[in-house]
Amino acid sequence: MAKRRVRVGIIGLGHNGAAHLRAHLESGGSEIVAICDRNRDAVEKMGEECRTARRYTDDSFFEDPDMEAVSIHTGDADHKQPFLKAIRAGKHVLVEKPLANSEEDIHEMVAAAEHAATGVKIQVGYILRFNPVFEEIRRMVVTGLLGRIYYMEGDYVHNLLYQAGKTDPVTGRNWYLEQEIPLVGGGSHPLDLLRWISGKEVKRVWGYSNHEAFPAMKHDDCQVCLFQFEDGTIAKVASLYAPRRDVPPYYNLRVYATNGTVERDTVACATSEADVHPEFKPVTAERTQGHPYLREIVDWLEAIVNDRPPRTSLWDGANSTMATLAAVRALRERKEVEVPIFRDPSSASHA
Ligand SMILES: NC(=O)c1ccc[n+]([C@@H]2O[C@H](COP(=O)([O-])OP(=O)(O)OC[C@H]3O[C@@H](n4cnc5c(N)ncnc54)[C@H](O)[C@@H]3O)[C@@H](O)[C@H]2O)c1
Repeated sequence: MAKRRVRVGIIGLGHNGAAHLRAHLESGGSEIVAICDRNRDAVEKMGEECRTARRYTDDSFFEDPDMEAVSIHTGDADHKQPFLKAIRAGKHVLVEKPLANSEEDIHEMVAAAEHAATGVKIQVGYILRFNPVFEEIRRMVVTGLLGRIYYMEGDYVHNLLYQAGKTDPVTGRNWYLEQEIPLVGGGSHPLDLLRWISGKEVKRVWGYSNHEAFPAMKHDDCQVCLFQFEDGTIAKVASLYAPRRDVPPYYNLRVYATNGTVERDTVACATSEADVHPEFKPVTAERTQGHPYLREIVDWLEAIVNDRPPRTSLWDGANSTMATLAAVRALRERKEVEVPIFRDPSSASHA
């Protein structure tokens, strides 16, 4: 665990921000010095769980004298402003996925990060990277055991119909119904997983979508896209927000490579028994249900304390979100589109 406690402030104290706050309290690696939400009730409620934190309902939060790191958990389209304020104040940042909800916002955030103070650590909340089963599958790829990847699949299939019943007490609106884009908010999780496992960048994308299962959402609730990576590898990502079933989200990870295959998230195997490499084996790592927030937070805190890149850097987050936003443009324009790629100046983030 971290050698010293990082002094953290958390902004956005809804479902996700509250879960992060509780994981921080569990981690022992941070001290929550400040909390902020525009909803005073949310601040008071979380303040009861974390009595040491100063409480804010506006941007004076960013001027807190003691805060060295900011964790951002506002809605998908509201990440940019707190991100820019935190970066300009020289704070370390953890920002939830998707990095932003528009291509323009991502360009602006990356440009700001390029001028951030030296040593600032930025983590983007692509949490599947902290699921042990996916870590083990990636290890099999990185060691060369599976050979060269040529096709991958990953889905975000999650019944989110319950989101329709929510109303933000401050705005009287429901950002989920109005702003959430399934391929970006949900689909960028498996897309990030495919980028992380393969170490490849997306070059172009196209796809189809429809709007049958969740009519209350503004955006199409079923979005399916084909991504071509720089080396010619192909991937399919589907995002479905209203499957009529009640099980945790499932990612349908499949990886097809020249020496082996990963299917049903759990099995890597050679093409025939005769071919089986002595190291080929079923993936045994635990498949975390829910969100491994604690592991993600500890990675960020240790990156800060030990001055090393976090597992999901700003550039990783930008590329994963941007590929899905470009996909949405492809859906809208009904044509294949090129995906802008951000290159990490330190190129040390594929940890
Ligand atoms: N990584 C994951 O697996 C994961 C899981 C769930 C949610 N998320 C992400 O976390 C974010 C938050 O989701 P949620 O479900 O908690 O939403 P939510 O609506 O429950 O909470 C958002 C909170 O932010 C507050 N807020 C919004 N704008 C603000 C501002 N400018 N200043 C201060 N407070 C502000 C709102 O009052 C609200 O309390 C989203 O981006 C979502 O996609 C990520």
